[in-house]
Amino acid sequence: MDKLNILMVGSGGREHALIRKILESSRVNKLYCAPGNGGIGKDSICIDIPVMDIKKMVDFAKENSIDLVFVAPDDPLAAGMVDTFTEAGIKAFGPTAAAAMIEASKVFSKDLMKKYDIPTAKYEVFDDPKEAVKYIQSLESFPTVIKADGLALGKGVIIAESLKDAEDAISSIMEDMKFGASGKRVVVEEFLTGPEVSVLAFTDGKTLFPMVSSKDHKRALDNDQGLNTGGMGTISPNPFYTDEIAKICEETIFMPTIEAMNKEGRPFKGCLYFGLMITQNGPKVIEYNARFGDPEAQVVLPRLKTDIVEIALAVIEERLNEVEIEWSSDPTACVIMASGGYPNEYKKGIEIFGLDENGQVNGATVYHSGTVFKDGKFYTNGGRVLGITATGKTLDEALEKAYCAVDKITFDGAHYRKDIGKIR
Ligand code: AMP
Ligand code: GLY
Repeated sequence: MDKLNILMVGSGGREHALIRKILESSRVNKLYCAPGNGGIGKDSICIDIPVMDIKKMVDFAKENSIDLVFVAPDDPLAAGMVDTFTEAGIKAFGPTAAAAMIEASKVFSKDLMKKYDIPTAKYEVFDDPKEAVKYIQSLESFPTVIKADGLALGKGVIIAESLKDAEDAISSIMEDMKFGASGKRVVVEEFLTGPEVSVLAFTDGKTLFPMVSSKDHKRALDNDQGLNTGGMGTISPNPFYTDEIAKICEETIFMPTIEAMNKEGRPFKGCLYFGLMITQNGPKVIEYNARFGDPEAQVVLPRLKTDIVEIALAVIEERLNEVEIEWSSDPTACVIMASGGYPNEYKKGIEIFGLDENGQVNGATVYHSGTVFKDGKFYTNGGRVLGITATGKTLDEALEKAYCAVDKITFDGAHYRKDIGKIR
């Protein structure tokens, strides 16, 4: 089998987990990451190209005989990076811009679910703040959920506990444009309750293989207090995702979504992320993402036993049905160490202690999210800094190993949740 030159686009913990998995493949010749980070630089060749510079990215790929590209983050997918690579004759894993709309526009995804009877929260769409306020004034109970239409770094969702909160949310999203152009339209939706489950799936638009389930911990502080973040830790599998629930999801959500996208002329190829809530009336979709979740990838990918390069090629070449995907039954846990202040303002450039020269620590795998490596030392360079991940025979063993490794790492202001995997 030919060996391939591979380019990863992105710079977070998710990309580091993908890189680590790709390194297990027998198909790798050279492995690059653009732009990467301090830890990723220990495992691949980092290239200083911003993720949204599609032209430079494609030029680099042509000049360096890249055979396969993974586009990991949402923004370049929504901007059509996969389309551009494909037009240039380079294989790229990820959805087209047309298919990435399933994440890039909440209005699109809600309308899709309504049209094709895919279970989700009831909702209304507004492009006029006055109309939105009139509607929320007519609501009989709170909380209600207000979502900016477009991509907003995972922060464009406000759970309004009262009419005043809801009015403030409309005003900050639609008038002050807190999330930029993302807030031109809003979705106001029914507040649902129940455990949340993340299920990522490989799909080539015909076949869909769900990956092992996971659970994200989105709030910044213990006991699900504090602000929403990109994710403060994950476990896999998700204890709430029983075989019975999985069967319902496959029948009522996963395949119907693939078929809906085909009917809309937007076949989805890549990794499709289902953010689900298991409500008393069955599982419902909270959101779709057009990519691997972060930090879901950090617990799901370590359990993947099948060669990810082979899977990616099968997805791109629409022959996923030929592949058998195997998973380890050992649970995994990931604890995110974040910068003091995150998800609000935080400082960068703080020295990290406790990592070895490869950015690792004994007893766990350290996926780097926001770090730089300078003059032999690692420094913080983002809100989420490190994802400390461990595997065990049980979830408790995985958590114990992960927290044991977390104890060995320090940097000024570091904060992490102490209750990852505890809410079951
Ligand atoms: P999203 O970015 O759409 O995943 O929303 C972020 C988080 O907000 C989710 O993980 C949920 O915890 C919460 N959320 C979103 N929509 C709803 C809803 N309809 N009801 C209750 N919680 C929600
Ligand atoms: N962890 C949720 C996300 O990647 O959006």
